[in-house]
Amino acid sequence: MQPFFKGKENFIVSVTILGIESSCDDTSAAVLRDTVLLSNVIASQRVHEAYGGVVPELASRAHQQNIVPVVSEAIRQAGIDRKDIDAIAFTRGPGLPGSLHVGTSFAKGLALALDIPLVDVNHLHGHVLSHFVKEAPDAEVPGFPYLCLLISGGNSQIIKVNGPREMEVLGQTIDDAAGEAFDKCAKVMGLPYPGGPVIDRLAAEGNAKAFKFAKPHVDGYNYSFSGLKTSFLYTLRDALKENPNFIEENKADLAASLQRTIIEILMDKFGRAIKDTGIKTIAIGGGVSANSGMRAAVEDYARRHRLKAFIPKRVFTTDNAAMIAIAGHYKFLNKEFCDITAPPFQRVII
Ligand code: KG4
Repeated sequence: MQPFFKGKENFIVSVTILGIESSCDDTSAAVLRDTVLLSNVIASQRVHEAYGGVVPELASRAHQQNIVPVVSEAIRQAGIDRKDIDAIAFTRGPGLPGSLHVGTSFAKGLALALDIPLVDVNHLHGHVLSHFVKEAPDAEVPGFPYLCLLISGGNSQIIKVNGPREMEVLGQTIDDAAGEAFDKCAKVMGLPYPGGPVIDRLAAEGNAKAFKFAKPHVDGYNYSFSGLKTSFLYTLRDALKENPNFIEENKADLAASLQRTIIEILMDKFGRAIKDTGIKTIAIGGGVSANSGMRAAVEDYARRHRLKAFIPKRVFTTDNAAMIAIAGHYKFLNKEFCDITAPPFQRVII
């Protein structure tokens, strides 16, 4: 094991964390030495594609199949021995209960076997802190405070990040998340799950001004996407009455117009929060931050307003254990350990 405290000075020498992520349909393990990434292995589950969404029972089974090989591969790729691991950080929630049980139980078993501390991580904190995972020791990371737009399949939040353990939610969705808007509208178009990446690809070929969809009126920095979903559905329903080939003939334009609308909704409130707080560093995170249009919009906004923008590499946008390891790293430094009896949680509690 690497020394953690050096003599009386409490000087941290080096910390090696194994991160484990199993909140939804990706089984992932990563090894982080201090904040530098040594490995990040992700096994994605293709089994759900045939069902148009994640099937919880199938997700748990796939995690059971994947967890041992994925963790072994992460340790192998990191070039370390199991006894070099100082702590295990795992996603305790939010997520699918059955999926979380697999990662939680495995993390506990391994922590007991290696006699090392266990650190529980809120999956959302992982997304927000993903910018601190360094692929090279001299990589640039955000300064505090920064404003993070967290956009995933389950959440859309504007978060003021004052420190690795200090986050303030300024606004969030009151109904659907941005990712759900992508996925549900894609489903209406008959596109495969998950719809977000498919819409992204189609949008590149389409006219983003071809169709207009309803935008929400919500207080403060909160979001709403359920009205957009209904507006999209009604547009298609009415057009299909006139032309049964409407979707096929307008696929790219529909995708581009939908994507533009979602981005405008997201950027409107994010922009307001940036202006009101006067914060000069911004970031995005979560699955929807992989969207090409969204990434371009944030870059463009930052350039026009002279802000520093952190846009994660695509591998760190979807669920991954590197972000769990980095969030665990900061909790470990704070000596915030998790009890061995702690159950996973479906909704946010830590
Ligand atoms: O963060 P994530 O992997 O899972 C959650 O924790 O929710 O996000 C998944 C969401 C899905 O809704 C998916 O359609 C969306 O992220 N997504 C995208 C893109 N890639 C993934 N949405 C739009 N454009 C993309 N390129």
